[in-house]
Amino acid sequence: MSKTAEMLRVDQAGEFGATRIYAGQLAVMGNRGPHSAEIAAMAEQEAGHRAKFDALLARRGVRPTALQPVWSAAGFALGAATALIGPEAAMACTAAIETEIDRHYTEQLEELGDEDPELAGMIREFRDDEREHRDAALAAGAEKAPAYPLMFHAIRLGCRAAIALSKRI
Ligand SMILES: [Fe+2]
Ligand SMILES: [Fe+2]
Repeated sequence: MSKTAEMLRVDQAGEFGATRIYAGQLAVMGNRGPHSAEIAAMAEQEAGHRAKFDALLARRGVRPTALQPVWSAAGFALGAATALIGPEAAMACTAAIETEIDRHYTEQLEELGDEDPELAGMIREFRDDEREHRDAALAAGAEKAPAYPLMFHAIRLGCRAAIALSKRI
């Protein structure tokens, strides 16, 4: 598989996972949580990211990750679990994920350089959205979540593992 096909696969998996995390959070919070509107707005952006990667994947004939059912369940569970802990924990989850995704997308952009401007343009646009999600989560009190450093670190590690696996499988 080409380098860009591998990037596209892992990125589509990530955006799919993001939609599932927010779906899990919203399932627990409903539309009455203190951050429900904000989360719903982020979820909508993730759905847009996902749809654009889905379309590019299909157009280029790249197989999506076989781990999609795993990310579907794991993402939803992570979202639901953090929302059950509380609104700050839900935001801590977003802060951790988006910190890792910012790093991941920035690395990809460096690796791509002038190659594949179509893919690079999408990655840059989405990366900027993810940075806004991270900043919004921090502004909403992510760091006040119980055991924030531990949760932040654990979620980042999980996210990294998911990225590594989705490149290969
Ligand atoms: Fe996204
Ligand atoms: Fe995001």
